[in-house]
Amino acid sequence: MADHDESVTVVVREFQANKDTERVVTLENTCEVGPTNKLSLFTDMLGDPICRLRNSPSFLMLVAEIGQEIVGMIRGCIKTVTCGKGLSRSKPTLTRQIPVYTKLAYILGLRVSTNHRRMGIGLKLVKKMEDWFKDNGAEYSYMATESENLASVKLFTDKCGYSKFRTPSILVNPVYAHRTKISRNVTIIPLTPTDAVTLYRNRFSTTEFFPRDIDSVVYNKLSLGTFLAVPRGSYSVETWPGPDRFLLGPPCSWAVLSVWNSKQVFRLEVRGASRVKRAFAKTTRVLDQAFPWLKMPSVPNLFRPFGFHFLYGLGGEGPKVVKMVKALCGFAHNMAMECGCGVVATEVASCEPLRFGIPHWKMLSCTEDLWCIKRLVEDYSHHSLIGDWTKSVPGISIFVDPRDI
Ligand SMILES: CC(C)(COP(=O)(O)OP(=O)(O)OC[C@H]1O[C@@H](n2cnc3c(N)ncnc32)[C@H](O)[C@@H]1OP(=O)(O)O)[C@@H](O)C(=O)NCCC(=O)NCCS
Repeated sequence: MADHDESVTVVVREFQANKDTERVVTLENTCEVGPTNKLSLFTDMLGDPICRLRNSPSFLMLVAEIGQEIVGMIRGCIKTVTCGKGLSRSKPTLTRQIPVYTKLAYILGLRVSTNHRRMGIGLKLVKKMEDWFKDNGAEYSYMATESENLASVKLFTDKCGYSKFRTPSILVNPVYAHRTKISRNVTIIPLTPTDAVTLYRNRFSTTEFFPRDIDSVVYNKLSLGTFLAVPRGSYSVETWPGPDRFLLGPPCSWAVLSVWNSKQVFRLEVRGASRVKRAFAKTTRVLDQAFPWLKMPSVPNLFRPFGFHFLYGLGGEGPKVVKMVKALCGFAHNMAMECGCGVVATEVASCEPLRFGIPHWKMLSCTEDLWCIKRLVEDYSHHSLIGDWTKSVPGISIFVDPRDI
């Protein structure tokens, strides 16, 4: 796979771990994402440029080369997800909603070296990646970017035919030096992967972006567990009857979430913070470590590579669901603290009602993560009622796959 530019020869080819890793890591290290005048977030891939793809069922990484120099890269993956819902026709008396699936491609980790921007390399990488998507039967392609990242937004919307699709929020909470207190009125029950898959398939499979291979997610070694919150006295670890009987008569309120160990995959680092900000953060941390019983919110050290846990599969119902979610997030905080994480993050739809139960710091979060989408093929494999997914109205919730983070 090679392509040539008129003035300089730019070769786009598949990434080869043995000969490209070092050069790709160097490029990634010098390539900041987003506006330059603000704090920026760097990704430390722990020496493995395809670490963010490895858990996807099908993936590809391409590099752009001028002579011996790697000047750009792009990653992509394909999987089957829910794009809408239909009605089951198997029993006329008992209609139930069923998911409508589509093959969806995702573009991530696009980088062009600062010395080679505006030469058409980004565009070339996207086009080559889309060729691979189409060859592999993907119907849609999407990407996520900060809405302020003008270069990225313009590249995809002006030049590549993508349109703005969804704007979920990334909610990030620091991991304090003290443990979070969990409400005594809530019982937290760890679920087995089998029970978690059944619960997710039963309740969330019609949610947009729900991965059909949810079992590969839940059974993945990076998935640290799925936890159910119920009102104290309704069920305990010993009396929980399993997902089927639970869903036939659930308590008035309940919530579920799973924890993904992103710390094992890559690390993040905040760069560009002033000395004053760093010193302030350190002071809060030292105080929190010295007096944990004060339960003082403290700023972790985010100015050197830190790991995080990602919360996915958040859902539930009932009048006290927000309280259940809060308890689960507190539980997840304590898990992350034991694992030495800097933050806990999650991503939810912009109008997700459960977000009120998710503790987060505004200064660390991103209220508008912009997802842009494009239809790659003319024919739809899915139900005609769904039509063009890119034109559909957003649902209340979205399923954010931890493999795409
Ligand atoms: C986004 C990025 C990959 C673009 O790469 P690039 O090789 O410079 O892009 P191209 O030269 O192919 O640009 C194609 C089009 O994108 C748009 N574009 C690219 N950079 C732009 C900028 N800084 N401002 C406005 N539009 C821009 C333009 O429409 C451009 O066409 P034009 O040059 O004819 O006007 C590059 O800026 C980059 O690596 N940024 C840092 C990493 C990042 O933000 N990645 C995206 C995360 S999703």
